[in-house]
Amino acid sequence: EKFFNQKSDFRGKKVLITMGPTQEAIDPVRFISNHSSGKMGLAIAKAFKGRGAEVFLVLGPVFLQINPGDFSITAVKSADEMYEAANKLHPKMDICVFSAAVADYAPAQIAPEKIKKQDSEMSILLKKNVDIAFELGKSKRPGQIHVGFALETEREELHAKAKLDKKNFDLIVLNSAREEGAGFQHDTNRVKIFSRDGRMIDSGLVSKTEVGELILDEVKKTPVWI
Ligand code: CTP
Ligand code: CA
Repeated sequence: EKFFNQKSDFRGKKVLITMGPTQEAIDPVRFISNHSSGKMGLAIAKAFKGRGAEVFLVLGPVFLQINPGDFSITAVKSADEMYEAANKLHPKMDICVFSAAVADYAPAQIAPEKIKKQDSEMSILLKKNVDIAFELGKSKRPGQIHVGFALETEREELHAKAKLDKKNFDLIVLNSAREEGAGFQHDTNRVKIFSRDGRMIDSGLVSKTEVGELILDEVKKTPVWI
């Protein structure tokens, strides 16, 4: 589809979007990852592009049709690579959207050769990954807008609001894993968006395209929007 939205209210804005999962190598042939499809991130990217912004994707491994002419793309695999790419772009950005499902842990060591099967059980020691949104939140400059995501399975609103504060977000988009037809792999989603200044909106079950447009509308309502 083409960008049917004729508004250009984001013209002149530079937008960073982290999206997709990350892959954390165990050995040359194996990794730890998650079910993120990147569909929500791409919907947001298209919404910004359609409304005139210049969009920079820091893209984890996804199976999506992305028109390379529409975006500036840095393809990454691990959380460390995603952080490096996002950190480099961050100072020049007006808006940052952290939609990536970053693996929280990675194998403490990457085995140089394929790990051979043993008769015994085995375990993998995991180290904590860098929290990209948290780190970049510390260097958020005045006027810059940070949008985070939260995927929760219980006490959703409590956890989402805690992340809003901890990571210095202006908005947080809450995905409930309990919602039918929403979240990973689906083309539809139902989110609640919480703002730093205390607003909350519920999208209802709608297409990810519509969720994308809604997020842009909320970005414009933040006190730092100019
Ligand atoms: N995030 C990130 N880097 C990480 C982990 C998370 O940038 N290493 C970002 C996500 O992109 C999202 C937000 O932080 O915008 C919240 O991610 P989430 O996984 O829900 O929160 P965590 O802080 O990792 O807490 P937990 O997984 O324990 O709920
Ligand atoms: Ca996490």
